[in-house]
Amino acid sequence: MSEKTPVVRGLRDIYPGESERFDMVERSMIEIIRKYGYQEIRLPMLEAIDLFSRGLGEGTDAVEKEMYTLEDRDHDILALRPEGTASCVRAVIDRNMTREGKPRLWYAGPMFRYERPQKGRYRQFYQIGVEAFGLEGPDVDAELIFMGTDMWKFLGLESAVDLEINTIGSGDSRRGYSEALVEYLNPRKKELDADSKRRLTTNPMRILDSKNSSTQKLLESAPDLHDFIDSASRTHFEGVCEYLDREGVNFRVNPRLVRGLDYYTDTVFEWVTDKLGSQGTICAGGRYDGLVERLGGPSVPAAGFAAGLDRVVLLHETLGMNADDSAADVYVIAMESQHEAYARRLAQFLRRETPLRIRQHLGGGKVGVQMRQADRSGARWAVIVGDDEVAENRVALKWLREETEQESLGFEQLVTCLNRAVESH
Ligand code: HAM
Repeated sequence: MSEKTPVVRGLRDIYPGESERFDMVERSMIEIIRKYGYQEIRLPMLEAIDLFSRGLGEGTDAVEKEMYTLEDRDHDILALRPEGTASCVRAVIDRNMTREGKPRLWYAGPMFRYERPQKGRYRQFYQIGVEAFGLEGPDVDAELIFMGTDMWKFLGLESAVDLEINTIGSGDSRRGYSEALVEYLNPRKKELDADSKRRLTTNPMRILDSKNSSTQKLLESAPDLHDFIDSASRTHFEGVCEYLDREGVNFRVNPRLVRGLDYYTDTVFEWVTDKLGSQGTICAGGRYDGLVERLGGPSVPAAGFAAGLDRVVLLHETLGMNADDSAADVYVIAMESQHEAYARRLAQFLRRETPLRIRQHLGGGKVGVQMRQADRSGARWAVIVGDDEVAENRVALKWLREETEQESLGFEQLVTCLNRAVESH
């Protein structure tokens, strides 16, 4: 026997039984996004590497440690996208989309980061992202948060997630704060964990994110980011909070929330859950007013967020929420091989006349074997045809999940019966 080739570490297959939940959650989230009038943009998975180093920042983990890169045959260095915002901005600039409008866009698909795999953290994971361009007021920050809130409500997750928000101010405020932080931490460098020591030169504000207890202790008396934030940023943030209060959206201001990518300005936010262990952030985003210009476009404000689909699905499952993982609604069985053509015509008829998923049994076999397959498919009904049915142009309908007598029905009666059952379900 040949050796098996295992799936690449940190990557995974999403099998039937799980894929239905994935699909249901994804479609629900996209439906909410569409309700807000956002349009889909389909973006490539490969980009020139410098899009990410310029866009996300050289000192970020995503760029410095986690990028999947490759050299193509033209010797161009490309990277598998670690996120979607930079690509979306590039695409908006390419078409000059902000000249005439204020595009509000969404995308979904796989992202790649060479992280240490664990529950809820994968090297290929899926995001659904939204980005709004050209709007500078706090109303768009709030709209994004309303949209996320609607998603969790729709999926029945709202009691398990908390919204945390913060403002990190303008680029100038942050530079001032970074300097003050470095000045405070430098003489105390010995007490910092290894990652934070490195970040002291690459990305000091990320030290605030450290989970290390001695670093956290040190930070207790560090300068406060909020003391460096100018009045315009403060007013903007108060505006966002007011919108949320007015709509009754609960949130917690977390002054330590800084985010891991460099492009953010002013508002940042995350939805977190304590139900998934250490990978508890299911969705995150914020404003990034300087990014369009930094990537060669006009000076245009922007804001957005991305949900981690894998984690949303995991939470949905952890909370015991229902997801229909059946393969079909109706399973069509022919008693003998000579009834198969009739069964096929029946299956086609039902596909046309009902919204149901119709699986025809293939490969022959005894009726008992076929019935077991019908059961395993998760179908609610088996439709069986034999000599009598073919002779009388009828079918036998068997309810597989309910205590109901088997019935003999004509084609039209069958359609009425199935459609009525769907409507009342
Ligand atoms: P991010 O915080 O890096 O932001 O990722 C957003 C979400 O993707 C996270 O909250 C998490 O749910 C999920 N995620 C990230 N890495 C992994 C992983 N290795 N495995 C599973 N899930 C993961 C961004 O990517 C920004 N582009 C969001 C944004 C859009 N900001 C403005 N617009």
